[in-house]
Amino acid sequence: MSTELIKVTINGADFQVPKSARLIDVCRENDFAIPSFCYYADLALQASCRMCLVRIEKMPKLQTSCTITCTDGMIVTTQSEEIEKAQRSMLEFLLANHPLDCPVCDRGGECELQELTFDWGNLEERFIEKKNAKAERYLSPMVANDPQRCILCKRCTRVCDEWMGEEAIEAGNRGANMVIGTFGGWLNCSQCGNCIEVCPTGTLLDGTYRHQHRPWELTQTISTCTYCSDGCQMSLGSRGEDLVRIVARDRYVNGHNGEFLCVKGRFGHPFVNHEKRIRTPLIRYKKDGRLIPATWDEAIRFAAAHLDKVVAEHGNNSLAVIGSPRLTNESIYALNKFAAEVVETKHFAVADAFSLNSFFANLGGQLATHRDIRYAKTIVLIGGEPEERQPLTGKQVRQAVRNGGANLIIINSVPIRLREQASQFIHISRGSEDAALLALATGGSDALAAEKMGIDAHELEAARDVISQTRGDIIFMFGSELSAAAQAVIAQFPHLLAAEGGRVLLHPLPLYNNSVGAHDMAKGEAASANEVLKGAGQSVRAAYIAGSLLAADEVEALSKLDFVVVQELFETETTAFADVVFPAASFAEVDGTFTNSGGLVQRVRKSIEPVHQSLPDWIITGRLAKELGVDFGYERSASAVFREIADRFPAYAGLRYPALKDESQPSQVKHALAPRRDLANEFEAIRQQVEALPDNGEKSQATPSVGHELFKPGTMISKTPQIGLLAAGNPTPETFAISPLYQITVDENLKREPAVV
Ligand code: SF4
Ligand code: SF4
Ligand code: SF4
Ligand code: FES
Repeated sequence: MSTELIKVTINGADFQVPKSARLIDVCRENDFAIPSFCYYADLALQASCRMCLVRIEKMPKLQTSCTITCTDGMIVTTQSEEIEKAQRSMLEFLLANHPLDCPVCDRGGECELQELTFDWGNLEERFIEKKNAKAERYLSPMVANDPQRCILCKRCTRVCDEWMGEEAIEAGNRGANMVIGTFGGWLNCSQCGNCIEVCPTGTLLDGTYRHQHRPWELTQTISTCTYCSDGCQMSLGSRGEDLVRIVARDRYVNGHNGEFLCVKGRFGHPFVNHEKRIRTPLIRYKKDGRLIPATWDEAIRFAAAHLDKVVAEHGNNSLAVIGSPRLTNESIYALNKFAAEVVETKHFAVADAFSLNSFFANLGGQLATHRDIRYAKTIVLIGGEPEERQPLTGKQVRQAVRNGGANLIIINSVPIRLREQASQFIHISRGSEDAALLALATGGSDALAAEKMGIDAHELEAARDVISQTRGDIIFMFGSELSAAAQAVIAQFPHLLAAEGGRVLLHPLPLYNNSVGAHDMAKGEAASANEVLKGAGQSVRAAYIAGSLLAADEVEALSKLDFVVVQELFETETTAFADVVFPAASFAEVDGTFTNSGGLVQRVRKSIEPVHQSLPDWIITGRLAKELGVDFGYERSASAVFREIADRFPAYAGLRYPALKDESQPSQVKHALAPRRDLANEFEAIRQQVEALPDNGEKSQATPSVGHELFKPGTMISKTPQIGLLAAGNPTPETFAISPLYQITVDENLKREPAVV
């Protein structure tokens, strides 16, 4: 938008507004209420509902303010008898075929159509003709549909197209028979539910929560998603002791994701109250014996006595302490403190297959937030698959291109779906991502890099030209394919590729919701679980694990240990080797913070009390420490833990929970910036590794299917029954009238291997 200011007069008052600002936005920003249905900021204009009418001097007829850009001297009236009459008539037409069944509609109580009818409507129906009856149905395991309530605003079809790139739903038929639906009647898409979220009526509904609760019965708690590193803000709806739904409605939340959530964030919550949650502490008194329920005092005493014994006999470093990048900053911090100050072991690890230690040690510039991504001028994505692993990032990239005209350069060995948006897709051989980076960084290695990547050298030159000609922000994004040396190089790009008229920003694509926080809480020194467990049975004799290990060989290594303590939500492959299991509370039951991939520190808030006898991870660690003679002194206050984090870590200095309370103004961690440094060693290491690659290596030719990662049933998401159906290929049920859950049975132990490793 232009920075030039112009004068606009609204209802007799003068305002200075940016030239070409949208009139509806200007009116609302200045507290003049404008009703609307089809207008949705940052989506293509629809201009079909005609609710946003205003009178503009010198223009004939009333104008739709959503389609008007401000011009200097414009004189606008937003309220008059004429405008009100037109708006009331429009609402009457919109309701002509509407069933007016608010008392049985799931959206009743939080429906924009209902609200605007009360605020702007006639509250009286003069149409007496028979309504066009259309049956309710399921469009997919997640999306339920009552076509008769539709006002054809097409917000749903636009978000599906513009945010998700899926075009899975469209308007069919004509005139009064027009309905929103899907080709073939059954919806095969990523099941994000964003069409449900943005629907202003009860037409598209959450099929997993339907007919169960009314919105006013729910307590809404704003928190941060527990699944991926995007850190979407969301509203947890709880009733009593149960978490019953998750939405991102902006009436409750105004986070960096707006109304966006993906299938995991929106529908992946049933694990919280799942019947298989561990209910009490458990002790295995004899190796190969059963885990027996115990009291907290017994379990803490038992664990502390055995850990103490191992350390006394084999030394401090014989105990490995391993955290999960899924835990809150507070819990990882407490665990790290336990390792460093209670046991004094050097074996502290985070079970994350993608370490960012090298990246942050060399960080030469700021991390790109998701807002930065949306407004970037050029985005370079090396490796990764954001649409499946960090879906909000995928959506921001798509919008940057579609709505912002950004250049998108994708360098990947897999023709990922996002390449459809790319101005340049460089299809490289598997494992040659480092070669691409070498070429981008030095420009002198094109022949070697091109040979190993199986591409034409001029493709690299073209990419460099786009980067060097960009006026505005350039963002480099990368996945876990980059080696530590390559991460060091990309971290220095803000120094190497200083841009004119913009910034060079960096955006890693970590694998877990709190990978960045886990890195920070371990001061960038955490080893991987694999590294510390290499010594299992020799130098390492016991392990204290918060969360579960993922790799099979790491789990296997536990069998060689004398004593294993695990805190978890469910019994897993890891707890199968545990001598003591502590029931841990989920993200919905704790207070804390996560740090997302853009470095935003965001609040996790307790929505329900911890289920059964579970406790937050940091409290369990504190109790174990106290039993071993060290009192952390947090007095059950997560904010006290965070205060200590802020006092000890310069990147978090000055942050406090009250300062993080407004999710619309998130705080970014101030990671220490490394000066420009000589990268000769890294270049040499990369060059050697690239030279060892085969020429013209293998390339994946097929675009992976939508959901290949999203629907993979992990420990938490598999507790959503509908995910089983999606993982099984979303079979079409016999009838769309009832949920497919009641028609199709799938193997609940189904495992689906990722198409992209
Ligand atoms: S659930 Fe998501 S992908 Fe599927 S139709 Fe709705 S918006 Fe489109
Ligand atoms: S289904 Fe909802 S969002 Fe889609 S056109 Fe109808 S009313 Fe609008
Ligand atoms: S994009 Fe990531 S953070 Fe957002 S809802 Fe999905 S899993 Fe959660
Ligand atoms: S909001 Fe302007 S026409 Fe619908």
